Amino acid sequence: MAAAGSAVGLGNIWKFPYEAGENGGGAFLIIYLLCVLMFGLPLLMTELLIGRKSRKTTFSAFRAISGSDRWQWMGWWSSITIYILMGFYFVVTGWCFNYLYEAVFNTYIGMDSAALLDHFAANVSDTPRMILCSLFPVLLTAAVLWMGVNKGIERLSKILMPLLLVMMIVMAGRVLMLDGSSTGMRFLFEIDTSQITPAVFMKAAGQCFFSLSVGLGLLITYGAYMPASQNATVTSIQVVVVDTLVALLAGVIIFPAVFAFGFDPAEGPELVFVVLPAVLQNMSFAWFSGVLFFLLLCIAAITSTISLMEVEVAALTEYSGGRLNRHQSVLITTAVTSLLVAIYVLSMTGACPSLRFFGHDLFGLADTLVTTFMMPLGALCMSLFAGWFMPSKDIEIIPRSGNRYKQWLRPLFVFLLRWVVPTAIVFIFLNGLDIL
Ligand code: PHE
Repeated sequence: MAAAGSAVGLGNIWKFPYEAGENGGGAFLIIYLLCVLMFGLPLLMTELLIGRKSRKTTFSAFRAISGSDRWQWMGWWSSITIYILMGFYFVVTGWCFNYLYEAVFNTYIGMDSAALLDHFAANVSDTPRMILCSLFPVLLTAAVLWMGVNKGIERLSKILMPLLLVMMIVMAGRVLMLDGSSTGMRFLFEIDTSQITPAVFMKAAGQCFFSLSVGLGLLITYGAYMPASQNATVTSIQVVVVDTLVALLAGVIIFPAVFAFGFDPAEGPELVFVVLPAVLQNMSFAWFSGVLFFLLLCIAAITSTISLMEVEVAALTEYSGGRLNRHQSVLITTAVTSLLVAIYVLSMTGACPSLRFFGHDLFGLADTLVTTFMMPLGALCMSLFAGWFMPSKDIEIIPRSGNRYKQWLRPLFVFLLRWVVPTAIVFIFLNGLDIL
């Protein structure tokens, strides 16, 4: 449940639709599904297994397993990537809180597509508003970690996440009744092979890592808490299925609505924040639906930010070798994250022009850097580490009690990690960058 809470978040509901919209709809979807099977599932299992074997945080698991300092850079790599990712993830979480506020005060009711687009642009260029909205979830996440109520949150998300799923199914039902919705379904499910390009492969692979929270080593820390008797294969399959279903459902809501309301599917990161208010104001009990949906979306985002910040706090506590206690680590992590988030916001709103590079704000640059480069590279190193440097007896994909599939499942898994995953990542990467 915790791993699913980390995986299901803005990656599914915000990023998947806009990436699919920009990269050919059905063509993107099919490659995305392929990436999930080829990289997502094996890497998710790998991270959980590394954690369970080492019983260490992401920061020191590689050193613990290999017994050599040569792998310590992976711990640093992971920590740095998570910070860069957290910065922009909190900004988008801030957009969700902004829209929750808007839903409560009925601000977007009655706006047409053009007005919704202007409204979004006005919101995200309002510096004080964005600072407030983005720092609020940072403090909320910090409070959860400070009070150690992760268990409570987990219990809450066991009720609220299924509720989010039900809410999304109801929304999909409403959207599919709109005139023109079938064009959106065709956009999402019809595969136009001419759209399958190396760049789309690279985007889909990045989206797969982002959505499943793999490639950062974050799930190593989660694996460290996993009981030895738990079947890592079944757990990983469950996470992958839930995560993919939520992304698909988001697509089924967004694309029919895009065509029914006259938006552009390639709108970019603002896509869901303009389309969803259009959908929600057309639902029965519009006010209630809007508030409930954005509340659930904020909670889905917070279960992901908890996982991100938790890993940094655990790493810092461990790195300090006992000099920092958990509360001090939470304070330091919160301070660094807040500073980072403030820098991203100032860059985005244009309040600080010197924080723009090559005409881009830091938000877009960080998103590309993390999802297109850092996560795939992390995933590549992780599969090489597990495939070549981790003793294969340590790869316990089936618990000790085992079953008859154990005989061939492990060799198949090791083969995947040694050859298939690394080769495919390198190929997609070089091809996507036009090097091949
Ligand atoms: N998987 C999360 C989502 O889809 C984002 C995330 C990425 C969380 C990496 C943790 C680590 O929203």
